[in-house]
Amino acid sequence: MEDVTDPAFRMLCKRYGADRVYTEFVNADALVRDIASTTRKLTIHDEERPVAIQIYGREPDSMAEAARIVETAKPDFIDINFGCPVKKVAGKGAGAGLLRDVPKMLEITKAVVNAVHTPVTAKTRLGWDENSLYLDDGTPFIVDLAERLQDCGITELAIHGRTRSQMYRGEADWTLIGEVKSNPRIHIPIIGNGDVCTPERAKECFDRYGVDAIMVGRATFGAPWLFAEMKAYLNDPHGSLSANDSERSFSETVFQRSGLIERGETVFLPTQNGEFMLTPFRDLTTGLEHVVLTKGEWQPDEPILCRVHSSCMTGDVFGSKRCECGEQLIKAMQMIQAEGRGILVYMNQEGRGIGLMNKIRAYKLQEQGDDTVEANLHLGFRPDERDYGVGAQILREMGACKLRLMTNNPVKRVGLESYGIEIVENIPIEIAPNQWNERYMRTKKDKMHHNLNLV
Ligand SMILES: Cc1cc2nc3c(=O)[nH]c(=O)nc-3n(C[C@H](O)[C@H](O)[C@H](O)COP(=O)(O)O)c2cc1C
Repeated sequence: MEDVTDPAFRMLCKRYGADRVYTEFVNADALVRDIASTTRKLTIHDEERPVAIQIYGREPDSMAEAARIVETAKPDFIDINFGCPVKKVAGKGAGAGLLRDVPKMLEITKAVVNAVHTPVTAKTRLGWDENSLYLDDGTPFIVDLAERLQDCGITELAIHGRTRSQMYRGEADWTLIGEVKSNPRIHIPIIGNGDVCTPERAKECFDRYGVDAIMVGRATFGAPWLFAEMKAYLNDPHGSLSANDSERSFSETVFQRSGLIERGETVFLPTQNGEFMLTPFRDLTTGLEHVVLTKGEWQPDEPILCRVHSSCMTGDVFGSKRCECGEQLIKAMQMIQAEGRGILVYMNQEGRGIGLMNKIRAYKLQEQGDDTVEANLHLGFRPDERDYGVGAQILREMGACKLRLMTNNPVKRVGLESYGIEIVENIPIEIAPNQWNERYMRTKKDKMHHNLNLV
């Protein structure tokens, strides 16, 4: 959705159980002309997958060319927008405007399907206006259109149950979506869309109209956890998670009740830096596994010494001197050992959240002159892509809600606090720079505002 589904929002939706996310729609002509603000919209992250990049336009050639460009960003799907009703799009013959020129819509669809190897999907509306909802022989326009789009080679069709003239007014009509789904000639999945705002309505749409999936738009604004609530309700309508939970607070609803993490067995782990108990966790939305080391016991309202450490294979495993991660990890373990009580959450989010491959690509760029922030930006990432939501959830699960946090990074503090963890004290965990990481540390100080006094 335009101005809504940016990468951060998509990742949040994903984290809360959305099975698929879509980019904002992307103007095909602007892509072909290589307009920077448009090409930026092609940035997707592995954490979002499966993700669709949606394009719109009115000419088969430029749409095909745009699809080829989009394919280089490696989305899981390329979606064609035949549903946007706004004047600047539909009025110019793109988006829902193509509902008035079906031959052209089909030409565009074929051109896009033939241009790429990536599966192509489409999204449209019931028709142009209420007078064009049925063909002369009484067949619903959308039933006929769905067959034709399917014949062009699309792999899925999403239908918003309104006409273009309705814009977003009135109620979405799901009856015609149901008719498309029950047409025996249709074999591609049909995704229903429009006014699905509660878990109960989501279930009703599946049950009454038989759709293969539902697409949720506006109801997620400011409430991405709606996906978790819908999924919980669909899995167990009589379970403890009700639709009213959408009004509850973020932490109550998602972290404590919907169980987005799985806790493993706890075992004793003697190490070179002390003796700890180890508990693994799995993030059920991403499959990523994280580890917690604890020492001693505490009450939930007691401040506890804590380190939330993001994985750094090069530093933590190989002792790389390009960063200070490995030494910080050891120091944190030793500080917990010395105190006799504390918790270390080892988050599986390599390279400030960009993954190992990209971290090494960023290292390469640093060898060519970039600093660590410039390298991330160069690769299309933010300087720090880490997310502390799951870490906060793990801390709560371990009864650690008030922290004496060992960090030099102000963002980590804000990140955890925004997920409802209280930080009562900030404990610096500074390592002196060496000849290999001096520039890296200075960049962290100057550009990322880490509290570093030894640099
Ligand atoms: C602000 C806004 C932006 C939207 N942008 C897009 C878009 O880029 N692509 C698209 O297919 N639909 C877009 N839509 C339409 C929604 O995806 C959806 O079809 C529509 O809002 C009906 O579903 P809902 O009732 O769940 O919101 C947009 C809707 C809104 C309100």
